[in-house]
Amino acid sequence: MATLETVMNATLATPKPAVEATSALFTLGSTTTTTLIAAVLGLAVLYLARGNKAKGPLPPGPPPLPIIGNLLDVPKSRPWVKFAEWTEQYGPIFTLKMGRNTMLVIGRAQPALDLLDKRSAIYSSRARLIMTSELVSRGLRMTFMPYGDLWRRERRLLHQLTSPAAASSYEPIQEMESAQFVRDMLAKPGDFWGHCQRYAGSTIMQIGFNKRAKTPQDPAITKNVHRQMRAINEMMTKTAVAGRYLVDSLPILNYVPEFLAPFKQEASAIFKETLSLFRSHVLDVKKNVESGHDAHCFAKYILESQKSFGLTDDQAYFLGGALYGAGSDTTADGISTFIMTMCAFPDVQAKAQAELDRVVGRGRLPNFSDQPDLVYCGAVVREILRWRTVIAGGLAHASTEDDWYNGYFIPKGTIVLANHWAIHLDPEVYPEPEKFKPERFIDADGKLCGTKYAEAGHHAYGFGRRICPGKHIADRSLFIVFTRLLWSCTLRPGLDASTGTEIPMNVNAFSEGFSSHPLPFKCRIEPRGDWVKEAVDEAVAEGEEMWAAKQA
Ligand code: HEM
Repeated sequence: MATLETVMNATLATPKPAVEATSALFTLGSTTTTTLIAAVLGLAVLYLARGNKAKGPLPPGPPPLPIIGNLLDVPKSRPWVKFAEWTEQYGPIFTLKMGRNTMLVIGRAQPALDLLDKRSAIYSSRARLIMTSELVSRGLRMTFMPYGDLWRRERRLLHQLTSPAAASSYEPIQEMESAQFVRDMLAKPGDFWGHCQRYAGSTIMQIGFNKRAKTPQDPAITKNVHRQMRAINEMMTKTAVAGRYLVDSLPILNYVPEFLAPFKQEASAIFKETLSLFRSHVLDVKKNVESGHDAHCFAKYILESQKSFGLTDDQAYFLGGALYGAGSDTTADGISTFIMTMCAFPDVQAKAQAELDRVVGRGRLPNFSDQPDLVYCGAVVREILRWRTVIAGGLAHASTEDDWYNGYFIPKGTIVLANHWAIHLDPEVYPEPEKFKPERFIDADGKLCGTKYAEAGHHAYGFGRRICPGKHIADRSLFIVFTRLLWSCTLRPGLDASTGTEIPMNVNAFSEGFSSHPLPFKCRIEPRGDWVKEAVDEAVAEGEEMWAAKQA
């Protein structure tokens, strides 16, 4: 979630050629013997060949090769698209053998709910990620944690901080940041991607630590600044890149002592930097509170609840810090997808603007109290999250017991991936699924509606007990940014410099990452009229006053 972290990528890890990887791992110079390499190779083959014993038929799937299974069948780029094709071919659930791991891919809402929601007691763990979760995060990063006592305590605490009521209490922050977002978009439209990242980063820094990033270059969110949140997040997500670390395919390497294992030294360095940064943010909040400043933020409540939830200091620091990784890029990606979509579908944009003019008028920016009346805009938010869902491939769960479903056996330890992309393109649930049609979420009485599987109409926030805890905060961010942007601006495709004509939008060009956004595109962002500037400036000034009062 960048980048929410790449559990799926890592589970798809293709082992590197063993000799190359072995030499990278053990830099023992001339003392490295052929015997050692042969032993590691032998162990690798034995380990990969061992596999799980199935007690019954697994769901069908593409035929696996011996030892490596389907590793070569799964494309590295946008695997969810291939998985959607396999859903058509093999049915709503299918099996892949990823080396010795069994992976169950779910391509329809019904089995996803049957397994991940209704049987959540046994489908709520995560695949084991030795490098990213155990070595780089020392088991402290919630997104990767196995289902267990620590995860349960942390989720209970987070529940209090992210419930609908708690999410409403952060609305003033989102209003403040979205006013600045619109002002920035109008002032420097060419840097719209930077503004999306600033909005998302600054909002989560305020909610998390009562800190702001006033420009996209602010050290609090810039990725190139040493020891800052984006940089730390990128370092961590890179360790989850498929095939990068042999230890994820050959866990036996985890027994190699650190002084012989460069991958462990690298992991320790990242862990120490991360902990020190998270600690400094949390302790800044502690200091502020002790000196009598208002700090309505996660870190304050995490510190207050730390003892009653039995969290150590490091666990508390990581809980606060890791929310940045989970909640910043996902939100920025959703906003940039919205901008691209509005350029591509001017009719939808015009309809939403007509609703905004009718409900809000032209004297002020929309705010959260308008939400019940902005039905079409609400439907646009839902359709964005369905049509180009932010985490298209889903985030893998893992099962903790043997299970049976519709006559198929699902062994304990199966990696279970709900493929959001396929689920959201199911023609039985979403007629003409490729079309961008917000109307599908408005019922005959003109009210917002969902599907028979989801009240919200989509599954962009995942399933079961691991469902995104930040979803009420994220929904509010998307609503306020989308409506304020459309109230203030007209969004149109950029112009071709040589012909002067509009460059057609490519609605399928998305980044390869786990949480994805449209590839760079040109767009024209212009104020809708001369009434815009005054209202935007006023909202920005109110936000600045509120911020100054909080810091006083
Ligand atoms: C548009 C924005 C967002 C999207 C699309 C999104 C989506 C997701 C998804 C799909 C998952 C995995 C669910 C599963 O395993 O089934 C997830 C997990 C998570 N999200 Fe979000 N998210 C967003 C914003 C946020 C925000 C703003 C926060 C924090 C305030 C957040 C915090 C988390 C955390 C901590 C997890 C891990 C939960 C666990 O493993 O138990 N997310 N999110």
